[in-house]
Amino acid sequence: MTAPRRIVLVGFMGSGKSTVGPRVAEALEWIFLDVDHEVEARNGASVAELFERKGQAWFRGAEAEVAREFLERDGVVVATGGGWGAADGRLDTVPPGTVSVWLKVSPEVAVRRARSQPGQRPLLAVDDPLEAARALLLRREARYARADHTVDTTDRSPDDVTRRIVEAIRSS
Ligand code: S3P
Repeated sequence: MTAPRRIVLVGFMGSGKSTVGPRVAEALEWIFLDVDHEVEARNGASVAELFERKGQAWFRGAEAEVAREFLERDGVVVATGGGWGAADGRLDTVPPGTVSVWLKVSPEVAVRRARSQPGQRPLLAVDDPLEAARALLLRREARYARADHTVDTTDRSPDDVTRRIVEAIRSS
């Protein structure tokens, strides 16, 4: 296999992609890049505002474009939004040298963590977020599971998750 040149973190909202991503980057002396933040910065609006003003389909196109650009770079850890890795065939078409890691999380913990950043999770801003999370996860899990590695973050600290990802990369 080609030596790892970049990491792409996929997984559900609240799985820890943006929390552990910078730590993994620091450990490897690589650069951390966050797709959602870049889409927000380029458009001067939050994810929730962009969903409302331009629609989810537009957002999916914007995040795909930013992720494509980020995955052309070397020495980077890329955190994607939860929808990116859930698209059909996406993890089968990443450039050579990309190691994908699925950060797995239970719907209960995802909803609890997501509550702290409501502006970024319009799909969970519904009457019953737990039900919404369960339904979405059910539809998405098989796609996330295409990743090269899986780390369950449900009951793990960010440091523990970081260590496991770094170990997985070093043995890739
Ligand atoms: C989404 C996840 C969010 C953000 C948007 C849609 C999803 O990113 O891209 O709210 O469809 O799962 P995080 O996974 O960083 O919360």
